Amino acid sequence: MKALVTGITGQDGYYLSKFLIDKGYEVHGTIRRASTFNTSRIDPLIAKYEGTKKLNLYYSDLIDSSSLNQLVSLIEPDEIYNLAAQSHVAVSFKNPAYTSQAALGTLNLLESVKNSKKNIKFYQASSSEMYGGAKKEKLDENSLFDPKSPYAASKLFAHNMNKIYRESYGLFCVNGILFNHESPLRGETFVTRKISRAVGRIKNNIQKSLLLGNLDASRDWGFAGDYVEGMWLMMQHKDPDDWVLSTGETHTVEEFVNIAFSSVDLDWKEYVETDDKFLRPNEVNYLLGDSTKAQSILKWKPKVSFKQLVEMMVEEDCKLAEQEKILIEKNLLDITWN
Ligand code: NAP
Ligand code: GDD
Repeated sequence: MKALVTGITGQDGYYLSKFLIDKGYEVHGTIRRASTFNTSRIDPLIAKYEGTKKLNLYYSDLIDSSSLNQLVSLIEPDEIYNLAAQSHVAVSFKNPAYTSQAALGTLNLLESVKNSKKNIKFYQASSSEMYGGAKKEKLDENSLFDPKSPYAASKLFAHNMNKIYRESYGLFCVNGILFNHESPLRGETFVTRKISRAVGRIKNNIQKSLLLGNLDASRDWGFAGDYVEGMWLMMQHKDPDDWVLSTGETHTVEEFVNIAFSSVDLDWKEYVETDDKFLRPNEVNYLLGDSTKAQSILKWKPKVSFKQLVEMMVEEDCKLAEQEKILIEKNLLDITWN
């Protein structure tokens, strides 16, 4: 089996590629050309599989339809996992057009799938952000979408196009509506990783405080490693469909902070301050998912609890901070955090 993974250098790109390679897949992934190295998450896979058929990397960008078209023709994958996106909600308010181009990129990719002679299955990384989170309710595949950011609107466009291509052309188009999922590989500007990074550094006396925005926002946070298995299960189901993946629990940012600091015996109130610069023009206040459909039909289950997730992230970031501390003491690193 051959899979094409766009956004392979991201958090989910790493976990999914590892999962697929372990299942015997040949993985083909797209990376963006950057002036610095941007493959750190997948470096362990590159080290292990470079030069073998298991891992193949190509420069591409979701906004370059001709490169994606060429890749689909060249690789003729059995499955495409479209993970690439400017995925930061706050950034999408600053870069709305760029963020939205990823949605058009998805449409171009769907065209390539439609024009291919091969029956290619297509997975779209849809998001719980599309719901808008205005009401305190459990959200499933039938809940209404009410996007509150350019990011959410662009995801909804791609989601709808994917459904339209499924219904109009009989393509195997799957939408995975995933609630927030995190890991030690989460981007450092997302709130969970920002917190765990800070806790590691504060514990090691190389950071003094942590500035956050809205502490009352509530999210249904799961572990990314569990969620990539769900993506694959959706693609193995006999019919293409829309599926929610979530834990069924929601927690505030403040609860995340509290557990993260407590896990290393610190009182968060001594270190955390709020700053309006981290507030968004429009906030998604409350997200809670109902993944009954995926759990009963696909037999998917989130395995890592909220507390385990927080502790796993803090533990890994304490190790990183210990290394940073050594470099600072040897004058090999000159940086201060908050
Ligand atoms: P991530 O860590 O931000 O990774 C995004 C990936 O997309 C990176 O490889 C990035 O490349 C790439 N990318 C960004 N813009 C691109 C473009 N124009 N063309 C090609 N590649 C581009 O995100 P993630 O957490 O792994 O999430 C994966 C997907 O699931 C995203 O589409 C995200 O919106 C969606 N999603 C995530 C969550 C979540 O909680 N994690 C929940 C629901 C949906 P660089 O490494 O070079 O930046
Ligand atoms: N990033 C960030 N930084 N968020 C903060 C901060 C801060 O300093 N302080 C409070 N928050 C709040 C945000 O306002 C938001 O309500 C919540 O923490 C979570 O923010 P993020 O971690 O940035 O994630 P997100 O929920 O906006 O988006 C993530 O989940 C979506 C799925 O619902 C991203 O991964 C999206 O790509 C994904 O689709």
